[in-house]
Formats: sequence, C-alpha cells, structure tokens
Amino acid sequence: MGAAHPTPPPPGTPAPAPVPPKLRARGLARSFGRGAHALPALGPVDIEIAPGEFTCLVGPSGCGKSTLLRIAAGLLRPSAGELEIRTASPRPAAMIFQDYGIYDWKNVLANVRFGLDIQRVPRREADARARDWLARMGLSEFADAYPAALSGGMRQRVAIARALAVEPEMLLMDEPFAALDAQLRTILQDELLDLTQTTRTTVLFITHSLEEAILLGDRVLVMSARPGRIIAEHRPPFDRPRTADIRATTEFTALKAELWDVLRGEVRREAVPA
Ligand SMILES: Nc1ncnc2c1ncn2[C@@H]1O[C@H](COP(=O)(O)OP(=O)(O)OP(=O)(O)O)[C@@H](O)[C@H]1O
Ligand SMILES: [Mg+2]
Repeated sequence: MGAAHPTPPPPGTPAPAPVPPKLRARGLARSFGRGAHALPALGPVDIEIAPGEFTCLVGPSGCGKSTLLRIAAGLLRPSAGELEIRTASPRPAAMIFQDYGIYDWKNVLANVRFGLDIQRVPRREADARARDWLARMGLSEFADAYPAALSGGMRQRVAIARALAVEPEMLLMDEPFAALDAQLRTILQDELLDLTQTTRTTVLFITHSLEEAILLGDRVLVMSARPGRIIAEHRPPFDRPRTADIRATTEFTALKAELWDVLRGEVRREAVPA
C-alpha cells in the first residue's frame, strides 16, 4: 500500500535534481585546414542526450555527421565549443564506424574480444561473451577466420559484436547497417531495438535512412548541409517497447514525409552548392 501511495515530501523540500545528460555538446564546431583554405565541416551544434535515450541523426552526405561522432569518441578535437560524455562506470563509450574499423591482423574472435581485453575481463569470461555475441550475429563458424576472408556485411557484424560485447553505457554508431542487405539490416534493427530497450543504453545513431531513424529513435535530429547544424527535431510518437510493425502505421508514413520535407532542400543544397 505504501508503495502505491508514497508519502508526499514535506512542503519546502527541493525538487529532485534533474538527471544530467549523458552527452552534452555546446557550440561544437570543427573546420579542416587553416586560414583561407579552412573548410567548415560542422556546426555550431548544441545537443543534449538524456541517459537511456536513443537519438538518431540524419543529414545530407558530407554535412559533418561522422565528424561529430569522431569528436564524441575522442578521436578528433573540436575547433570550437565542447562535447562531454558522462559515464557512471569505467565502461567506455563504444563506437561503431561507417567503415567497420576492425583489425585485419586479429581473427574474428579476437576482434570481438578486443574491448573486453582492454577492460581486463578474465580471458575465459571474455571468450564466452565474445562467442555469445558472435552467435547472435550469426558468425559462430567464423570465430577463427580473419577479416580479409569475410564479406562487407560480415565485417560490419563483427564490428557490431565488438562494440556491444563491452556493454557500453553509450553507443556511438555511424551508419552501422548501411553496408548490409535489407534482410540482415531488418534483423539487426530488431536486435538493436531489443537490446537498447532492455539495457537502456544511451545511443547516438547516424543513418541515411529516415525509416531507420524513425523506427529506432526516441528522437530524430535533422542536420543542414555542411557545415551541419541541427535544423529540426522530432520525437516519433511510438511507445516502447517498440517493434518493427510500427512501419505500417500512418503516423510512421506521415513523419517520414515530414522529415523528408526538411531534408530534401538540404540534400539539394549539398549537391548544388550556392
Ligand atoms: N580529416 C579530414 N580532413 C579534411 N576534410 C575532412 C576530414 N574529415 C572530414 N572532412 C570533410 O568534412 C566534411 C564533413 O565530413 P563527414 O565525414 O563528417 O560527413 P558525413 O556527414 O559523415 O558524410 P557521409 O554522410 O557521406 O558519411 C566533408 O566535406 C569532408 O570532406
Ligand atoms: Mg559519415
């Protein structure tokens, strides 16, 4: 009974502190090159991502999406502004790259175990977790193979297994499914929905697919043509847990059309610069 009717706090009790965002970018911008030849690639952008939130980022090719993610992963410094990721545990943010980013000189099992080795997870446990993720990605038979022997889709599944095996607090995903065939892409979208809904992992996910963004995202951010800024923000109106069935709803189609309206002009602007 007590749980159903919690005692109200005494008057004057301060409201609980708001939960700080897991990721916060302020005035974030990046240029490449110097002086007259400097190419503004990104921003300025301000983004806050709450713990457990799945944020999708869409935008025309070359608008600075990967640049933003590389800054978030600590691989690139901003030219201006700042980006901060707060994690409560020593578990790092994990990044999945557009071009796989797996190691050609390590076999598949060692690639998937890589993050666990860095975390000094005992070998036996690390092997078991890596094999579990290989099985979920349908790669069990390839544990001993080297990446050179794999197809593009298989390499990307290795990269996904490697990132998810460390059970990161924050996942940074740069078009992780772009190179996969439609069937596998659907299967992995379902897997990712399932996984993030169970673990409440915070995700920043880049995609060219509006459908993918609406299906997966609590929030979809649209970026302008280069230098990319956030020009629209939508919250797909679907409860969680979600399944891929929402694709068939009229709300889904309507939101896709609305997002495409915003994006279309930017894609044109990128293709035919003023
Ligand atoms: N290391 C670099 N040196 C110079 N220019 C770069 C570098 N990295 C990116 N750029 C430029 O910055 C801009 C943004 O690149 P970025 O890769 O972030 O775009 P993107 O939005 O990820 O594009 P895509 O959708 O095609 O992956 C592009 O014009 C690109 O050529
Ligand atoms: Mg990119």
